[in-house]
Amino acid sequence: MESTIAYEEMRQLATRVFMRHGVPADEANITSEVLVEANARGHDSHGVIRIPKWIEGISSGAIKSRFLPRALNDCSSAIWLDGGQCLGPVVAEYACHLAVRQARDYGIAMVSVKNASHIGMLGFYAELMARSGCIGIIATNTESGVAPHGSAEKVFGTNPLAIGCPTLSGPVFLDMSTSVVARGKVVLAQRAGAAIPEGWAVDSRGQPTTDPNQALAGALLPVGGPKGSGLSFFVDILCGALSGTAVGKDVRGTFDMRQSGSKGDIFIAIDPEKIGGIDRFTGLAQHLVDQVRQSTPAVGCDRVLVPGEYEMNFRKQRMENGIPLASDLISELKALAGE
Ligand SMILES: NC(=O)c1ccc[n+]([C@@H]2O[C@H](COP(=O)([O-])OP(=O)(O)OC[C@H]3O[C@@H](n4cnc5c(N)ncnc54)[C@H](O)[C@@H]3O)[C@@H](O)[C@H]2O)c1
Repeated sequence: MESTIAYEEMRQLATRVFMRHGVPADEANITSEVLVEANARGHDSHGVIRIPKWIEGISSGAIKSRFLPRALNDCSSAIWLDGGQCLGPVVAEYACHLAVRQARDYGIAMVSVKNASHIGMLGFYAELMARSGCIGIIATNTESGVAPHGSAEKVFGTNPLAIGCPTLSGPVFLDMSTSVVARGKVVLAQRAGAAIPEGWAVDSRGQPTTDPNQALAGALLPVGGPKGSGLSFFVDILCGALSGTAVGKDVRGTFDMRQSGSKGDIFIAIDPEKIGGIDRFTGLAQHLVDQVRQSTPAVGCDRVLVPGEYEMNFRKQRMENGIPLASDLISELKALAGE
């Protein structure tokens, strides 16, 4: 059975769950915002459904709170940050602000993070950097679940990537797994006892499957064949290899949260003010937005959307009508909050 819950009510409930498990109010707030925003934007696989697993991680000690930033190098524009196994959204939000602050001085700044837990929906951070006037690029590597192009075996994670920038009419942002879909969407189908569309996954022999159980035992497919496979490869390089954590099959702590995270994240901020000025940049970015929106829709398509518009349309509708959630999930979250 499904119920609907208002955004703010969900956010407060999520915050209370984290606080009841020892997370300080500021960190509980940041974490719940990233998760509830995912629900608001239609990425339910990265929303509050994650909370019970994250609480398992907190209770087991694999995920810590009270993040104390610690740089592992001495470089102002290429910062190597230890996340201290703390809550991913807290570390990620800090890394975004740091990258933006340093980009104001150097034009570009990069924060490579090791030892942070799962950071949730990446588009949140791309939008945050875009709202600060920067181009933001974020990626993270995850536990393996995706077969490289031509392989029957999972090696890569769903290794998502987000890119955002300001325009005259607000931020635009791409937010995508480098697999056909996020693994969480297959888990949602498994929970619902539903089939997944053809083309998402193969079973453990490398045969196409629409059964979510076989897909999880087998492998998801990279988006766009060799191109997504190549992107996924380099997300592993930019995140796992650069941060000095783990790559491919060695990545841990994004499915089973009772294991400490051994993945990496990258946050890159570019300040257009340093390269010809923000006004010129946002003017041209807006020009591209207008060209895309005004292009002739293909047959069967009502409107042509720019990156992130899909999510923002969802958000508008869910802010008005509430967030649909499985009733048993709401009960589980209330129980975790001790209510
Ligand atoms: N932190 C992690 O470890 C992790 C891992 C994997 C995925 N994720 C998150 O999972 C979420 C879902 O990822 P996904 O790959 O399934 O996303 P998706 O396939 O739903 O969307 C990908 C992109 O396509 C755009 N889009 C979707 N429909 C569109 C349309 N009709 N017209 C124009 N653009 C459209 C969206 O705006 C988005 O930018 C993302 O928020 C991602 O960050 C996180």
